[in-house]
Amino acid sequence: MSGNTLLHGLILLYSIHPLVLAEKPDDGCGHYVLGQESGVLSSKNYPGTYPNNSRCEWRIRVPIGHTIVLKFGDLNMEKKDCESDYLKVLKGSYWAEMVSWEYCGGLMPKPAPIHTDSSELTIRFRSSQHISGRGFLLSYSTENHKELLTCLDRGSHFPVSKYRKYCPAGCAAVTGDVSGDISLGYRHTSVLCKSAVHAGVITDQFGGPITVEERRGLSHYPAVRANGIQSKDGSLSETLFTFVTNAAQPAMTATNM
Ligand SMILES: *[C@@H]1O[C@H](CO)[C@@H](O)[C@H](O)[C@H]1NC(C)=O
Repeated sequence: MSGNTLLHGLILLYSIHPLVLAEKPDDGCGHYVLGQESGVLSSKNYPGTYPNNSRCEWRIRVPIGHTIVLKFGDLNMEKKDCESDYLKVLKGSYWAEMVSWEYCGGLMPKPAPIHTDSSELTIRFRSSQHISGRGFLLSYSTENHKELLTCLDRGSHFPVSKYRKYCPAGCAAVTGDVSGDISLGYRHTSVLCKSAVHAGVITDQFGGPITVEERRGLSHYPAVRANGIQSKDGSLSETLFTFVTNAAQPAMTATNM
């Protein structure tokens, strides 16, 4: 144990890159997309169990003058020692960083969104031996994008007829069903941001604002492949949602002609 600590200390002294700290520094990293304005990160295998003795560190950086907002879609770690199993959010640069938020100990209610005053954050995830726990999934954006969503938010989570939200980059590869398509609408149980990529109202690379409208549902939702995403057959539902776009339809038609 102490030999291991000494070795890590030596590696720290002789390395210029923080990720060299661990032998396999990124074996706890799951899907992530780190965009300039928004992004998504998750532990490995999410929503399956993250591996034993894993670690990962992500750097988030947004343009100077902006600050980062973090929103948890899920946080579920087995009850463990906070020394060896944690998710930490650190503020500041590599040379002067400090732990600002720390999550550990198991059975946590989903944390409230974090409004930081920083344009640069490090997210550090670490696990020891464990059996269960989904790990975490979170999204971030700059502070000027109101109503940030996580990739897990569904149409059914917002029972209002019309609303505007912000999708982070990177939701297309996150678990969650999409049923329907752009012309008929999406079953209310569909995840909003992946549906928005499917509909073509945002790209997965950048994310972006969406305006959603709730309507009366259909008896059946078709499985359609669009923009790299396969939607699934969906059964009767009371409501559906569609995306309101500003695309000037007549102008487009005029260009095509
Ligand atoms: C961690 O290791 C223990 C003991 O080998 C094993 O029982 C457990 O399933 C492992 N957990 C994971 C998430 O792989």
